[in-house]
Amino acid sequence: MITRQLESDLSYTYHQLTKEELAKLKNSTILMTGCAGFLGFYFVHFFYQYCTELNLKKVICLDNFMLGYPKWLDNIKKDERFIVQEFDIIKDPIHQIAEAKDADYIIHMASIASPINYRKYPIETADANIWGLRNLLDFYKDKPIRGLLFYSSSEIYGDPIPEAVPTSENYHGNVSPIGPRACYDEAKRFGETMCRLFAEQYQMPIGITRLFNIYGPGMKLNDKRVPADFAKNICHDSDLIILSDGTPSRTFCYIADSIVGDFKILLYGKFDFFNIGIEKPEIAISRLAEIYQTAGKEILGYQGNVIYQVSEDKDYLTDNPKRRCPNIQKARNLLGYQPQIIIEEGIRQFLQFIKESPEENLLW
Ligand SMILES: NC(=O)c1ccc[n+]([C@@H]2O[C@H](COP(=O)([O-])OP(=O)(O)OC[C@H]3O[C@@H](n4cnc5c(N)ncnc54)[C@H](O)[C@@H]3O)[C@@H](O)[C@H]2O)c1
Repeated sequence: MITRQLESDLSYTYHQLTKEELAKLKNSTILMTGCAGFLGFYFVHFFYQYCTELNLKKVICLDNFMLGYPKWLDNIKKDERFIVQEFDIIKDPIHQIAEAKDADYIIHMASIASPINYRKYPIETADANIWGLRNLLDFYKDKPIRGLLFYSSSEIYGDPIPEAVPTSENYHGNVSPIGPRACYDEAKRFGETMCRLFAEQYQMPIGITRLFNIYGPGMKLNDKRVPADFAKNICHDSDLIILSDGTPSRTFCYIADSIVGDFKILLYGKFDFFNIGIEKPEIAISRLAEIYQTAGKEILGYQGNVIYQVSEDKDYLTDNPKRRCPNIQKARNLLGYQPQIIIEEGIRQFLQFIKESPEENLLW
C-alpha cells in the first residue's frame, strides 16, 4: 500500500532525476537483490509507482528473506510485470531465472546492513558481498548490461582519523580486519575491489555507492539501527534509549534523497565510486533523540523522555566510528547530486509515513 507520505517521497525522487536519466530507465528490465530490505522497499515501490510511465518490461525482485518475508510484497507480486522470488544470491544459480539474462540494470543490495543483525550472520553477510556479488559479475560480464550498482558503505572508511572528516572518496580508511564489524566493512572493501577488476577486464558499467547513514520509509521498526530504534520508541510511547554517551556524531540522509544519488550512479554508464549521503548537519546521537522527541510529540502525541543505558551487546560500540560525515563534492560535480531534505524535516516525514502505514510496511 502506497501511503500519501510514501507517494510524495517517491514523487520527489522521480522529479530529482533529469529527463535524460529517466529516458535511460525507460523500456528496461531491472534486477535487484535484497528487495525485502529497507532500500528494497523504497526501490520496489518506486518501480511499482512509475512502472507504466517508465514502460518497464520486467522488475525482478530477489531476496532470501533471511530476516523474514514482508507481507507488502504480496501486493507487488500481483502485478505481472514484477517477479518476486525467494533467491539466495550466494548459492542459487541466476540462470534459473529465465528473465535475468535480459536485465539492463542490476542493483545489488543483498547484505544485512544493521550491525546487530549482521553480527548474528557474519559469514552470510561477508558472502553476500563477496560471492553474491561475484555470481552477478560472472553472470553479467559478457551481457550487454547498461548499469550494475554495488551497494558499498561509508563503513569502508572505518573510524576515520579526525583530519579525514568530512570524508572524501580518496580517504583509504581505518578498518580493523578482525573486529566485530569486519564481516561487513572488509567484505564491502573486497566487493569494491572485485567491481574494479571486472569493470577493467570486461568493460562493465559498474557503479559503487558508499552510503552514509540513510533513514526513512522502508526502515523496519525492528531493524536495530538507531533511527529505527528511536522510531519504535516513539510508536510504543516508551523512552528514547541512547546506548552510548550520546556523543558519536553522524549526518543522516533521508531515503528520498539518497535513492536519487543511487539512480544517478546506476545510470552513469561507466565505472566509478561515490559517497552518497548529506553533508549537513552533523549531529550527536543525543541531538537526534531530541529531534525525534519533538517530531514525535507533533505527529504522534509522543510523551516519552531521553534516557541513557548500556547495551547488553558487549560489541555494540566496538569500532563504532566517532564521527561520520561525507564529502559529496564528487557526486555533486559529476552527477549533479544535490540532497535537500534536512534532518528535522526527514524525521517528521518518516514518522508521518509510520503513522499512515499498515503494520506490514513496518515489520519483517
Ligand atoms: N541503509 C543504510 O543506511 C545503508 C548504509 C550503507 C550501506 N548500505 C547497503 O545498502 C544495501 C541495502 O541496505 P538495507 O538498509 O536495505 O539493508 P537491509 O538489512 O534492510 O536489507 C538487506 C536485504 O538483503 C537480503 N539478503 C541478505 N543476504 C542475502 C542473500 N544472500 N541473498 C538474497 N538476499 C539477501 C536480506 O534478506 C534483506 O532483505 C546493503 O548492501 C547495505 O550494506 C545501506
